[in-house]
Amino acid sequence: MGYQRLLRPVLFGSYGGDAERVHEATLAALERLGESRTALRALAALTAAPRPIVTVAGIEFPGVVGLAAGLDKNGVGLKAWSSLGFSHAELGTVTASAQPGNEQPRLFRLPHSRALVNRMGFNNSGARALAERLERAGVRRGNGAVGMPVGVSIGLTRTTPVAKATSDYLTSFRLLAPYADYVAVNVSSPNTAGLRSLQDRAALHELVVEMVAQARRLSPVSPVPVLVKIAPDLSEAALDEVLEVCLDSAVAGLIATNTTLARDGVSPDEAARARETGGLSGAPLTQRARDVVGYLASASDLPVIGVGGIVTADDALAMLDAGARLLQVYTGFIYSGPALVSEINRRTAARRIR
Ligand code: FNR
Repeated sequence: MGYQRLLRPVLFGSYGGDAERVHEATLAALERLGESRTALRALAALTAAPRPIVTVAGIEFPGVVGLAAGLDKNGVGLKAWSSLGFSHAELGTVTASAQPGNEQPRLFRLPHSRALVNRMGFNNSGARALAERLERAGVRRGNGAVGMPVGVSIGLTRTTPVAKATSDYLTSFRLLAPYADYVAVNVSSPNTAGLRSLQDRAALHELVVEMVAQARRLSPVSPVPVLVKIAPDLSEAALDEVLEVCLDSAVAGLIATNTTLARDGVSPDEAARARETGGLSGAPLTQRARDVVGYLASASDLPVIGVGGIVTADDALAMLDAGARLLQVYTGFIYSGPALVSEINRRTAARRIR
């Protein structure tokens, strides 16, 4: 409760309430903390809870709940996430070239709705910088150097036309595959023009076949698992297409879902804020993300990482009941802090994850 009652009011109020500056300052603090073994041990003791080992795509995760992509795009807090109770962190989304993202402000809090709207637009330091950071931290695929598996999310560089997406993604893939326990192919952010069209059958097929082939070329004996992250705004017919392509091309799993373009479920007093362009995350997304996960999990055996609107431990359990094998949080963590992660760990400790 310390986070919600003490730290959050200070954080949300600092930098004149500028959500993005607070975010950057918090990451910088976590980076400093990550340099001190004593601090990390103290933090781990504070957040400690027993956790099940969950195996997905051949990777052993110490617990069910990970950090969703976008929160630590450049891996700044890399060494701290495990001590906060996360079973993995999905770093990125990074792109082949560094880029500034959209103009600020581009991140908006809707606290009464327990939601965020963002149109960040893949602001990131680039795939090479992330590879270098992982190298410096001693992270290699499978070595558990930071106490948990590390996923890396890759996306399309803004200046690359969608028709040339495959070679753009491949650049990031080659740079990062040696370090990542899995690579998430992000085709679902609403904030890069045309990106989501990569979820269409032909485009997705071309893209993922190349990623999987590249994984095999780089590491024929144990290729890095490739997962695909999808939007919550797809119809059932579109979800069927995605499944078909992924099953066909030896994709190791799906991550569902990214933020939504819908605005249902926003508190009326925040309707104006919700009209900001971008993707909506948090509580208004809970039911839709759970439905998508349920649909995917019942339609195939492909493992699904459930993300979207997990703002309470009950939401986490419901996402697991819907068929998710692993979970991720972003917005819930912003509002509830490490207590949410501990509570999910505590409530899932005795659970057998199928
Ligand atoms: C995101 N999300 C995201 N996803 C992704 O695959 N790559 C990214 O770079 C980002 N960036 C990003 C920035 C911000 C500010 C937010 C709020 C979200 C989406 C995120 O990983 C997650 O899929 C959704 O936010 C839904 O989960 P929550 O937030 O409801 O727990």
